[in-house]
Amino acid sequence: MYGKITMAGLFDSHTHLTDEWMLEDIDGIISRIEESELEFVMNVGCDVQSSELAAEQAQKYDWCYASAGCHPHEVEEMDEGNLERIRELALRPKVMAIGEIGLDYYYENSPRELQQKWFRKQIRLAKEIGKPVIIHDREAHEDTMRILREEDAFSNGVLMHCYSGSAEMAKQYIKLGAMLSIPGTITYKNNRRQKEVVETIPLKYLMIETDAPYLTPVPFRGKRNEPSYVKYTAEKVAEIAGTDYETVVKITNENARRFFGI
Ligand code: NI
Repeated sequence: MYGKITMAGLFDSHTHLTDEWMLEDIDGIISRIEESELEFVMNVGCDVQSSELAAEQAQKYDWCYASAGCHPHEVEEMDEGNLERIRELALRPKVMAIGEIGLDYYYENSPRELQQKWFRKQIRLAKEIGKPVIIHDREAHEDTMRILREEDAFSNGVLMHCYSGSAEMAKQYIKLGAMLSIPGTITYKNNRRQKEVVETIPLKYLMIETDAPYLTPVPFRGKRNEPSYVKYTAEKVAEIAGTDYETVVKITNENARRFFGI
């Protein structure tokens, strides 16, 4: 039905093919993925419903893998039944991680205590089933780090998605064994903080991502993002790290495959 992409290529470590905005043009987005240099896409769940769809999409497309989890925005839907549902989904073929989970004190769509409770419970679930976690941390750097430490998450694999902390904290994270993922915002002019991270942290600890449909890189900033645009992030990372594009593609691909066990 869909041809397997055999050339080693880009790995978009974080995308949302389940998002309503993506579903509006899902056939176009999928054909552009298949025509691009992408080799793999990690299709990340945000709640039970999107995790289910992500797992289905992973069954349909060779290049697609999925994760299952409940985003801090959505934790008010969580209960023991839904946690059990996430466990079942996470054990399906091609579902490689628990995520995205974490804390969001910027939007604070749900109470902090509730975010923390389900963050912890989902880390424990990941450890029980032996899968890594994909972490969302927005304006909650200290609590995120503290809870990951307290729950001893690092031994199991931690990916800081859309890493937005300082270079100092990035050093602490990689020392603990975490990986960091760099989004399209690295292409924005005044993004000194993220540039410093890429300058400081060796490539072997980095992945690249779109977080599509959001965080669209230049030259498409302001439009809907999609996985095939991850190449603009790879180009920018190469420029900042002082290496070539092919090296960034190869190493971030190897990093993601090792981390997710693909
Ligand atoms: Ni995301």
